Amino acid sequence: INCVGILTSGGDAPGMNAAIRAVTRSAIYGGLRVKGIYRGYRGLITDEIVEFRTQNVSNIIQAGGTILKTARCKEFTTPEGRQLAYDNLKRQEIDALVVIGGDGSLTGARIFANEFNIPIIGLPGTIDNDLYGTDSTIGYDTALNTIMECVDKIRDTATSHERLFFIEVMGRDAGFLALNGAIASGAEAAIIPEISTEVDQLAELIEHGFRKSKNSSIVLVAESPVTGGAMGLAERVKNEYPGYDVRVSILGHLQRGGSPTAFDRILASRMGSAAIDALLEDQRNVMIGMRNDEIVYVPFSKAIKNDKPIKRDLVDTLRRLSI
Ligand code: F6P
Repeated sequence: INCVGILTSGGDAPGMNAAIRAVTRSAIYGGLRVKGIYRGYRGLITDEIVEFRTQNVSNIIQAGGTILKTARCKEFTTPEGRQLAYDNLKRQEIDALVVIGGDGSLTGARIFANEFNIPIIGLPGTIDNDLYGTDSTIGYDTALNTIMECVDKIRDTATSHERLFFIEVMGRDAGFLALNGAIASGAEAAIIPEISTEVDQLAELIEHGFRKSKNSSIVLVAESPVTGGAMGLAERVKNEYPGYDVRVSILGHLQRGGSPTAFDRILASRMGSAAIDALLEDQRNVMIGMRNDEIVYVPFSKAIKNDKPIKRDLVDTLRRLSI
């Protein structure tokens, strides 16, 4: 391998820049050339590719978003689109790729790698933490901290007005942000898609907690058709318990922005560095994961296809602490 291409794809996540910096500098340190590919897979197709030197990644470790821009590219899902991408790779003399992104982006990487026999290393970059084989994804810790800060602020109003708040958080069908966000902010409950019975437990919470002893409550709701989202739940509760002063707050893209936490910067730096080690060791088509503070290689087939389980003790802890 002589030249590595790097791209970010799918939803941006804090720490992506730290990962770009780490991949670029580790590659150069290891004697490789690096090319930055702009706008994810779209930039591969439209040939928006620039040679990177160490200065291209100066002063970015603290920045949210991604300096490479990102996109969700429809064309790359077609064989014709991927052929164009491959032709550009060849022309640019890129012989390996590092793809930073979530589930959809790594699925694209897997198909592309198999079709054209190119070594690709994936880095888990998503606030959702929904990739199997890694304890944490790049951006998850920052998003969790943002959620905690937001809920702390909303709690002031919930308490002052004695209201029941439903706060919707992101996660694309995964409950990690909602569940851990609820524990970190001392919320009363988390409604997550992995445990659908939680919706029924909401009634119990309202009957036994809110009604009897608490004058305000905060429930975090993971966005998902399974949970019905915060709006749907609030409507249900308003109908069934008309006496309550119910409010909804949808945190939205607030959760994706901001300067990455130290945890995410270090995670991204280690993973970015490990991506180059993996390529130099002739690894291909694996995602870099971090398990128990050790770098691991997770085959794409495992990282994408498996549902990452929610830890039961977190659910129990939240329930216990919300009495
Ligand atoms: O995957 C990250 C994420 O923020 C999800 O939590 C959310 O479902 C989705 O992206 C939103 O995507 P967009 O920014 O394209 O609306």
